[in-house]
Amino acid sequence: MAPFLTPISTTQFFFFLALMTFLLNLATGDYVLYNGEVLMPGQNLTNGPHHLSMQPNCDLVLHHSGKLVWTTNSTFNSSSNGNGSCYAALKQNGELVVRRDVHYILWTSAKKAKKGKYALVLDSTGRLGIYGSRRWVSNNPKEHGPGATRPGSTIDTEYVLHSGKRLLMGKTLKYREYELGLSKYCNLVINSTRSGKTLWQTNTKAATCFLELENNGELMVKHGSQRIWSSNRKGDKGRYIAVLRFDGRFAVYGPILWFNAKFDDSTKNDYPPIDMIKEEIITWEMD
Ligand SMILES: *[C@@H]1O[C@H](CO)[C@@H](O)[C@H](O)[C@H]1NC(C)=O
Ligand SMILES: *[C@@H]1O[C@H](CO)[C@@H](O)[C@H](O)[C@H]1NC(C)=O
Ligand SMILES: *[C@@H]1O[C@H](CO)[C@@H](O)[C@H](O)[C@H]1NC(C)=O
Ligand SMILES: *[C@@H]1O[C@H](CO)[C@@H](O)[C@H](O)[C@H]1NC(C)=O
Ligand SMILES: *[C@@H]1O[C@H](CO)[C@@H](O)[C@H](O)[C@H]1NC(C)=O
Repeated sequence: MAPFLTPISTTQFFFFLALMTFLLNLATGDYVLYNGEVLMPGQNLTNGPHHLSMQPNCDLVLHHSGKLVWTTNSTFNSSSNGNGSCYAALKQNGELVVRRDVHYILWTSAKKAKKGKYALVLDSTGRLGIYGSRRWVSNNPKEHGPGATRPGSTIDTEYVLHSGKRLLMGKTLKYREYELGLSKYCNLVINSTRSGKTLWQTNTKAATCFLELENNGELMVKHGSQRIWSSNRKGDKGRYIAVLRFDGRFAVYGPILWFNAKFDDSTKNDYPPIDMIKEEIITWEMD
């Protein structure tokens, strides 16, 4: 053991655990983990039939309809410290780690990048991806400030837009009380359905339009081929996501830094190579 590593006591660990559990109260149906957040034993990211679970035995496992499709193989057995003293965390450099007893790393995604804001997403096809760093964020104030809790409720709405896809008029992204959509006259709006307040808007106007996330991370409101609003932030070509966050802000992360390769194979047909995305403009719908 390196001299600077101090084993922590069980009491300390449970204090840490209680603190983290307080900070991140995942709702069923949360499928985005932001950096600085941890997945504690018993907590899951869930997207439809896909579950990413941090198990008490320190293994981080991905199930599709109950079938195991991916695992970090980080099972740790210890008579003194086993059961519950592990967690998964997304670090500020975009690295996903499974740790035990705070200090010890059992597994790492190994892809590191510059310090920034990253997001781990379990998407609707069951792929895990780490996106970042953040390219753009809407300039409305955070609705709850850092460390906001997400009360344990069920989320069954889509709140991520993937690059190459469009959000059409009449469709919305929705995360808990926050809703993003295009109004009748093409104003892109974030609303709080609880307070009825408009939190952010583009003040755009047109007869018809759609919102699109380009494969360079630029968000655009377009009327046909004409752009009527842009986030004006571009990056390298790749896979990006735009997420309606738990704090009521809309943010773009990418390009993708890491994804779980094994599951990639089995979803090959759903994901064309990155350089084909530009041609693949899919009409994206939700119920
Ligand atoms: C987490 O996922 C597992 C399946 O991997 C499931 O058995 C368990 O009920 C889920 N827990 C929560 C809190 O959703
Ligand atoms: C876990 O172990 C299996 C079997 O050896 C292997 O196929 C898989 O790639 C491992 N998972 C990771 C994330 O390395
Ligand atoms: C931990 O315990 C489980 C169940 O007893 C066993 O299957 C696994 O091989 C053990 N892992 C290690 C690393 O000892
Ligand atoms: C972990 O918990 C399981 C079930 O609660 C129990 O059977 C097992 O003995 C525990 N292992 C350790 C190392 O405490
Ligand atoms: C936002 O709220 C206003 C007023 O309640 C409503 O007219 C509008 O349709 C809402 N827009 C979205 C995108 O939810």
